[in-house]
Amino acid sequence: MVETIQWTDDGVVMIDQTRLPRVVEYVTCRDFREVAEAIRSMVIRGAPAIGVAAAMGVAIGVQKSNGTDFRAELEVICDTLAKTRPTAVNLFWAIDRMKQLALSMEGKPLAEIRQRLVEEACLVREEDIAINRAIGAHGAPLVPDGKRVLTHCNAGALATAGYGTALGVIRAAVEAGKKIAVFADETRPFLQGARLTAWELQQDGIDTTLITDNMAGHFLRAGTIGCVVVGADRIARNGDVANKIGTYSVAVLAKENGVPFYVAAPISTLDLTLSSGDLIPIEERAAAEVTHVFGVAVAPEGIGVANPAFDVTPNRYVTGIITEKGVAYAPYEESLPRLAASR
Ligand code: MRU
Repeated sequence: MVETIQWTDDGVVMIDQTRLPRVVEYVTCRDFREVAEAIRSMVIRGAPAIGVAAAMGVAIGVQKSNGTDFRAELEVICDTLAKTRPTAVNLFWAIDRMKQLALSMEGKPLAEIRQRLVEEACLVREEDIAINRAIGAHGAPLVPDGKRVLTHCNAGALATAGYGTALGVIRAAVEAGKKIAVFADETRPFLQGARLTAWELQQDGIDTTLITDNMAGHFLRAGTIGCVVVGADRIARNGDVANKIGTYSVAVLAKENGVPFYVAAPISTLDLTLSSGDLIPIEERAAAEVTHVFGVAVAPEGIGVANPAFDVTPNRYVTGIITEKGVAYAPYEESLPRLAASR
């Protein structure tokens, strides 16, 4: 399976997701500012992968700090990483985890703090892979055998430290011997479905058909799709789900056609501080992502553009939320906090 992100003696090594699938290239970030830029420019993307990158960003930042004012330096590192992208809560979750650990060690020799932070960042990565395997194990029984699964964006190995959340469910179903074929939405404007999901499923030999986003309704109505599985960037306490722009339309079409719509995400994607999805900050990205495709203009110069990177799917469209601790069902206000608190 593809290596999304790794800690090495040279720095944080990531596969460059802006160049896939045409070019398979790894970049090395040698300080926290380079990690922050990699997150901002989507060299690395996908909520759990962003979390791992941020954890490694804090660790690499502290390796290079001079230790004269540890608190102030830590603050700059964490703030810089936190300002990269606003929607995926895993970013803030990982920064906070690293920051709390660093602060709890204040006063100890810097070499010891540095070593411990590297270990913690690597642990965040390893835990993520184990979490995805657990999500897969809980989700696989929900996938109907012999039908197609529709997915949107990329919630795969590339969006995590490995295996994937939504694609982890699909992988686990295939590993369990189910005959599964995938419909992957291309996911305009950044084309995570066409460039990333199609690529990684093809590498695994999983039967995949790429469709444009506006074809999803047609295939859902045709009755060939057994279920929809997507990832999430942030899930509010009431079960409203922020995920890649276009997810909401798929969810409504799924319900209209009686097709189960599942969200697969780690507990770290829950934001129990938010009562509803209306409070989730939605990232607005550059107009050029809409007006241009691979540098070629597809719209008249000067046209007005909107480019929200995410939308919110209200909880009534969500059949179940698959986490590493089990599957939550409505009413989510009750099931999500209970699941989060369980061991
Ligand atoms: O803008 P991106 O590519 O970072 O958005 C990614 C998504 O919306 C994914 O579906 C989500 O992060 C889940 S990834 C396991």
